Amino acid sequence: MQNAEGLKRLAGERAAKFVRDGMIVGLGTGSTVYYTVMKLGQMVRAGEISIIGIPTSKATEKLAVTQGIKLGTLDEYPVIDLTIDGADEVDPNLDLIKGMGGALLREKVVASVSKEVIIIVDSSKLVDVLGTKSSLPVEVLPFALTAARNRLESLCTEAKLRERDGYTFVSDNGNYIIDCKFESIPEPGKLEIELNRIPGVVENGLFIGMATRVILGTGNGVKTIEKST
Ligand code: A5P
Repeated sequence: MQNAEGLKRLAGERAAKFVRDGMIVGLGTGSTVYYTVMKLGQMVRAGEISIIGIPTSKATEKLAVTQGIKLGTLDEYPVIDLTIDGADEVDPNLDLIKGMGGALLREKVVASVSKEVIIIVDSSKLVDVLGTKSSLPVEVLPFALTAARNRLESLCTEAKLRERDGYTFVSDNGNYIIDCKFESIPEPGKLEIELNRIPGVVENGLFIGMATRVILGTGNGVKTIEKST
């Protein structure tokens, strides 16, 4: 029986098998994608593939560089063949909550221009309804913090400014994150739009209709869930 880390590794490494030579690959962020980037690095160094990675965070950029993966920018490669990323919750429609790592804005931009988006998670991330386990991260402009938080508080049960090591967490884009707790999010598509209409909200962690496939690390091995059309 694998522990949680082993399940992440299973899913992360399996996703690397979908990467083909010559692809432009969106590299997500987080502890599951870590295993994908490490595997891709091995494949690159072994001469099995040559790819251009588009990192979704400074942390992933650093890791990919240490692994010898060539990187490009979204301006150079505005269409991505395949993105591999983690998630905090996955519902039966393959809609997602993302952003516990704070990289949701770049992750969403990258996913939005990707022909395929593979989400890698361990089975603890599957939920029937979004919002039942995880808070929903919302990235806000520091200038608008109080105004945006007041609006968010009227929509959720708790809106908490994210901190790290006793300081306000600052995203790679220089913004703050407010983690919004909901009892559940029965209409994620509607909420995504509603949140992004609040002035000062830069983006939120609801990823609707973006995942094309989910690779799940389970106690019984890897399971793949395809998006039903
Ligand atoms: C990063 O901002 C997030 O969207 C991550 O993709 C998500 O939190 C999953 O991370 P783990 O794979 O570390 O659980």
